[in-house]
Amino acid sequence: MQVSKLPGQGASIFTVMSALAAKHNAINLSQGFPEFNPDPTLVESVHRAMKNGLNQYSPMAGQLSLRQVLADRQNSWGRVFSIDADKHITIVPGATAGLFSVFQALVMSGDEVILFDPSYDCYAPSIVLAGGVPVRLSINPDGSYPFDALKHAINAKTKMVVVNTPHNPLGLVFGRAQWAALSQVLTDTSVIVLSDEVYEHMVFDESEHVSVLQVPELAHRAVAISSFGKTFHATGWKLGYVTAPENLTHEIRKIYQFLAFAANTPMQIAAAEFLSSNPRYEKSVSTVMQQKRDLFVDRLHKSRFRLLPCAGAYFQIVDYSDISDRPDLDFAIHLTETLGVASIPVSAFYENPHPNQRWLRFCFAKNDETLLKSTELLCQL
Ligand SMILES: Cc1ncc(COP(=O)(O)O)c(C=O)c1O
Repeated sequence: MQVSKLPGQGASIFTVMSALAAKHNAINLSQGFPEFNPDPTLVESVHRAMKNGLNQYSPMAGQLSLRQVLADRQNSWGRVFSIDADKHITIVPGATAGLFSVFQALVMSGDEVILFDPSYDCYAPSIVLAGGVPVRLSINPDGSYPFDALKHAINAKTKMVVVNTPHNPLGLVFGRAQWAALSQVLTDTSVIVLSDEVYEHMVFDESEHVSVLQVPELAHRAVAISSFGKTFHATGWKLGYVTAPENLTHEIRKIYQFLAFAANTPMQIAAAEFLSSNPRYEKSVSTVMQQKRDLFVDRLHKSRFRLLPCAGAYFQIVDYSDISDRPDLDFAIHLTETLGVASIPVSAFYENPHPNQRWLRFCFAKNDETLLKSTELLCQL
């Protein structure tokens, strides 16, 4: 008798490396969470909602006040169709729950879903649980997408392509040129695009975030995933939202109502209040994170690591092949145990890791003191 729906699935690499960091009292640059707090007015707003007795279930799709401010925001950023709070936005307890609902709702038994590796670790298991088949293509080492391979991979069974922009772990931004290339490949197909945009408000230098909902050829068959955990520096709050056309939202909500029914009420009310009174808040997130990236990169320039470009999200990839030829998991464990700095081995994001790739991912969403201390240690190698 089959006893596991996910045979071979162990604890995620984030759990493993965070536990190792705790055991060795290492600086934890592994798991992607900020070391600093959300805006105090947001926290006060949550308290106020709780004290005012707003502690019961929210409507299934989420508090209307929050969906309305999100719809207004998105419309002001330019969307192919006008986003309607009732028809298009569903508040969920974190992007992970949103992604799970989307895969369960839209992927049928035997459907193929294309992922670009390195890919975030919750996609493939959720697809498998929906009865689907993840088809994994690799982003090229220079950061370009394999659009020719994608063209060949698409067939009658292909239901969905998953894009993640800005990208975890590579820090790549899927810009207008990439969306145009993807649109071209998907012309004359009905393939759905799931765009994981949880780092949408962390883009650096000249980069701009382009949502799938801004792409004329794709928006009507697309789902965008957002996370307040990322945008508010509050990953422990587990709050996010899913934006999709009405027909897809209808199916996604059918599943979501049985996954969680509703996200927590006080934080939704606080998020709505906070966004309404801070119309330019999201812009400030990129500024803060870019300063963090610049500090981390600047300090590591003196090291023997080679730094890959980082245009968005809050991760820096380093190539350590000038320091060691150990496989990346070994090396990440070694650094945690002996140097006291924890990272994530990038091979964990691949089905078939490149055997000679020597890349680690560091999260730089940390206090400056932590960044200074960790880079000082890393420069000793
Ligand atoms: C690419 C990506 N998608 C989704 C998530 C999950 O977001 P949430 O914490 O809102 O569930 C993360 C969190 O690290 C992520 O990096």
